[in-house]
Amino acid sequence: MKVGRTVTEVREHLREPRGRGERIGLVPTMGALHAGHRSLLDAARAECDVVVMSLFVNPSQFDAADDLARYPRDESADAAMASDAGVDLLFAPAAAELFPPGFDTWVDPGALGEVLEGAARPGHFRGVATVCAKLFSIVGPDAAYFGEKDAQQVAVIRQVVRDLDLPLEIVAMPTIREPSGLALSSRNRFLSADERAVALALPRALDAGVGAHHRGADAVAAARTVLDAEPGLSVDYVEVAEFGAPTLVAAIRVGATRLIDNARLVR
Ligand code: PAJ
Repeated sequence: MKVGRTVTEVREHLREPRGRGERIGLVPTMGALHAGHRSLLDAARAECDVVVMSLFVNPSQFDAADDLARYPRDESADAAMASDAGVDLLFAPAAAELFPPGFDTWVDPGALGEVLEGAARPGHFRGVATVCAKLFSIVGPDAAYFGEKDAQQVAVIRQVVRDLDLPLEIVAMPTIREPSGLALSSRNRFLSADERAVALALPRALDAGVGAHHRGADAVAAARTVLDAEPGLSVDYVEVAEFGAPTLVAAIRVGATRLIDNARLVR
């Protein structure tokens, strides 16, 4: 596996395979890799000739400085997992490579970026959209792989690709869960054993919501009933959002940790 630190190195590395017409797949990540990321890498490996993984903890998508500071970083473990998954090129730039002094051009996803996660984290999706547009420009992938775990992020990226006429396909992969139902997340490591037990109310609530919907009942009310019965958490939102298809989305706080999850109401 080759490691690139600069935009020039990445473009240079991809020049020949692109010239041969090889299919290039990109998996954007912030590291702290787990089986959710691995599923995206596996899909890219199966469908593309060249797999590029970016590893960049994007400062512009964090609203609180302390959240950025406490984001888990372990490049050597991430590089080992990427290499094991058959990644050809790991792009791990320094912050100043992507956001040098004077950087001031932003991709703003508009109203979609201001609701739900965007309301809870002002500026978050502007940072996500901007860094992804940059990664698409740097790598020039034929396909980029994202997780449905972050359903609003997928919707934002699809909108950016559509609105800016970017020539790539966005592939969304299903959420990978623990056997308990808890969606894998780099933030799960911040949960104590007790908090983890409380957090299981989130997938339970989504299941209840989907079940209610299929019976013709109110998905949001059913999910809320499950969450309200768990005193160890607070609810940020439970709503149905039109992310390509009607999707039950929820965000909760357990102690200092904020967790999001979602379930499609219609497949
Ligand atoms: P990160 O949180 O590292 O996630 C990278 C990708 O892994 C995202 O597409 C995310 O949806 C996916 N993912 C996370 N948990 C998953 C799970 N349990 N199952 C399946 N996929 C999962 O999302 C980001 O980074 C950043 O916002 C990024 C897109 C890299 C831009 O900075």
